Amino acid sequence: MAHGIDLSHLPRHVAVVMDGNGRWAQRRGLKRTDGHAAGEEALFDAVEGGLEIGLPWLTVYAFSTENWRRPLDEVRFLMRFNESLLLRRRDDLNERGVRVRFIGRRGGRVPRRVLRHIEETEALTAKNRRMTLTFAFNYGGRAELVDAVRAIAAEARSRKLDPAKIDERTIHRHLYAPDMPDPDVLVRTSGEYRTSNYLLWEAAYSELVFTDVLWPDFRRDDLFAAIREFQNRSRRFGTIE
Ligand code: IPE
Ligand code: IPE
Ligand code: MG
Repeated sequence: MAHGIDLSHLPRHVAVVMDGNGRWAQRRGLKRTDGHAAGEEALFDAVEGGLEIGLPWLTVYAFSTENWRRPLDEVRFLMRFNESLLLRRRDDLNERGVRVRFIGRRGGRVPRRVLRHIEETEALTAKNRRMTLTFAFNYGGRAELVDAVRAIAAEARSRKLDPAKIDERTIHRHLYAPDMPDPDVLVRTSGEYRTSNYLLWEAAYSELVFTDVLWPDFRRDDLFAAIREFQNRSRRFGTIE
């Protein structure tokens, strides 16, 4: 036990929708983008908390395919901010044994320089196994399924794959990170009760935990509280107890 958490029944994978940055800033009379900047401390406190208890997979929603609809200034800020966060933190994450990865569409409006830094960071940390920290960036669950269907259709057309044999595993193999276990827990902050196109396929059986805490105020104790809540749930996966 640590922090009331049963360490022998840890979730393998916690996925987080980091929401509420704009409201956090507005309540303080600050710019929305100040809220994004303040979210960095929350993220790294949660990562440290995860490392402290031995959480192997943590995935965070950093930028959705729908977030391109925001005002250009905010979109530009988020691109630059995510890039600078990566450059400032990657050596530290690497030294702590964190493997950093990205899921999402690598292209479209994402600046090439940002993509290059993403690839460099993935390569730098590729051998680490203590924790895999995945950023969902330019990520949409529907886009991920569209991309999977396209890849499967291409294989079927070139006769590498028999359409009659397509099953759930085929789809799973074509997701952005086929080796990633499904999230056991999906946490959303800021008092919104939706998943906003996050891990649409992967979260089919995730335990949902909602908290009113705004993302910049989130700390490892909030992560621990979510894990304790998960440990009090009974997961049935369609069976009976
Ligand atoms: C989450 O905070 C961060 C991103 C979506 C990039 P928001 O920016 O959505 O904050 P609210 O929901 O407007 O408060
Ligand atoms: C979800 O938050 C996306 C991220 C946290 C990156 P949003 O704030 O964009 O979601 P909606 O628009 O409230 O559903
Ligand atoms: Mg929001």
